[in-house]
Amino acid sequence: MLKNKIALVTGASRGIGRAIAETFVREGAKVVICGRKPDTLEQVAREIGPAAIPIVCHVGRSEQIQSMVAQVTRELGRIDILVNNAATNVAQAPCLDIDEGMFDKMIEINLKSAFRLTQLVAPGMCERGSGSIINISSISGLRPQFEGLLYSVTKAALNMMTESYALELGPKGVRVNAIAPGLIQTELSAYYWRDETRREKRMEQQPIRHLGQPMEIAEVALLLASDRSSFMTGQTLVVDGGRLLSSM
Ligand SMILES: NC(=O)c1ccc[n+]([C@@H]2O[C@H](COP(=O)([O-])OP(=O)(O)OC[C@H]3O[C@@H](n4cnc5c(N)ncnc54)[C@H](OP(=O)(O)O)[C@@H]3O)[C@@H](O)[C@H]2O)c1
Repeated sequence: MLKNKIALVTGASRGIGRAIAETFVREGAKVVICGRKPDTLEQVAREIGPAAIPIVCHVGRSEQIQSMVAQVTRELGRIDILVNNAATNVAQAPCLDIDEGMFDKMIEINLKSAFRLTQLVAPGMCERGSGSIINISSISGLRPQFEGLLYSVTKAALNMMTESYALELGPKGVRVNAIAPGLIQTELSAYYWRDETRREKRMEQQPIRHLGQPMEIAEVALLLASDRSSFMTGQTLVVDGGRLLSSM
């Protein structure tokens, strides 16, 4: 489905980003995988195979983002698919305990990184008249997460960023969509699933009872990346095992 495509996936050394990179490679794409730790990234690239190209980049650093995009453009010629996946949650705390430092860091990594990358990558897509940008959001951007004010705020803003870019870039052949996962078994969300009692309680609130897996997000990202979703843009696809249905 992605033969001859070139993709860039941020935060691809583990979890959802890694699953997306593996899936895109399986479908024939060359995939630049980005993360902060060179050793881990190179190990993951070896495991995925030669179509995975590791580039170390902290997405909170403007100059590192610029040099990554320049390197990819120089060595691979273009970027057809951009997946803004890397994110953090350093601010899981009661709302009144959050300080400005946390606010700035969460905005920088979860939101501004997607803005910076889109600003750098989308012009080339517009020139060629085709491209797909996928932002990995969260159901926490659609409902407030308890003691997760900044995580929810950054993801809600990412959803609106998705719609805003989609509106302007659609006429130039570039589609922009988001995925809002529910609980997925990764390091980021370990607090919610590692403890058996907490995990069981969560599963009771979820119509599809199993704990979400990174590959279940990656297959949806594949749909958005490929021409099979050629009439879809500006959407935030909820992939949460039905969790949001059970709020009443
Ligand atoms: N897991 C869930 O339940 C869940 C639910 C909803 C949404 N999401 C979203 O899904 C996305 C992926 O989350 P995940 O659960 O797969 O997280 P994860 O397992 O913690 O993986 C995060 C990835 O991002 C990289 N990363 C972290 N900070 C980075 C930075 N500043 N610059 C570059 N890379 C960075 C990490 O590698 P290094 O540490 O080596 O840099 C790692 O590869 C995030 O946007 C998250 O908000 C996850």
